[in-house]
Amino acid sequence: MTYCIPEISEQASLELDDSLRIGRGNKRDCYMHPKDAGQCIKVARHQDRWEECQEQSIVEWYYINHLKARCVPLTHLIDCYGWVNTQYGAGLVMERIQEDSGVSALTLRQAIQQGRLNRHQAHDMLNELKAWAIKYAIVIADLNAANLMVRPGDGERGASLVLVDGVGSRRPDWKFTLYQHCLPFSRMKTRRQWKRQIDSLL
Ligand SMILES: Nc1ncnc2c1ncn2[C@@H]1O[C@H](COP(=O)(O)OP(=O)(O)OP(=O)(O)O)[C@@H](O)[C@H]1O
Ligand SMILES: [Mg+2]
Repeated sequence: MTYCIPEISEQASLELDDSLRIGRGNKRDCYMHPKDAGQCIKVARHQDRWEECQEQSIVEWYYINHLKARCVPLTHLIDCYGWVNTQYGAGLVMERIQEDSGVSALTLRQAIQQGRLNRHQAHDMLNELKAWAIKYAIVIADLNAANLMVRPGDGERGASLVLVDGVGSRRPDWKFTLYQHCLPFSRMKTRRQWKRQIDSLL
């Protein structure tokens, strides 16, 4: 199976100006959607390595749709809405994690650095995330504290961790296809990633 970005060249292009940028990773820039503050748009950060920079967005698009088809609750994952045209090329529209005031939520790394979460709280939240990932056989392929964001609680539920990157696979390749068809293999991948990364998270 090949994985690709759907045809969107007919769409008008959205202008993403610098004031809308809310995050930057190694491969993608994350902008607030100019027409909906509840959504963000992820675009390739390096135009000379555009295809490589889009790989994680392609994986997320297929994987989140796959999870929805399996009726998996997206408790610790952002929702994904589709693709739009931007001046940086195709961008993936996703749910934006924000605080009640509308400012961007913190990554786990920022929350620990700023003393908003202590290690004990972070440890409990990570355990909850892991239990969900193992229960539903979610592939976590890049577990790090900048790929997790803190979703504020809503009165009934306390704050929780949300995966904003690094799910499904590292690349849209044969392993990604296998993860979607062989759930024990997915669980094995997540358990292994957890063992390798958990100490560096805290
Ligand atoms: N859904 C979201 N809501 C709010 N902010 C987000 C969201 N997704 C990403 N961000 C912000 O943008 C940053 C970069 O996004 P992301 O991790 O997806 O980029 P990346 O290039 O794929 O990362 P990496 O360097 O791990 O490959 C995050 O660390 C976070 O600060
Ligand atoms: Mg990241």
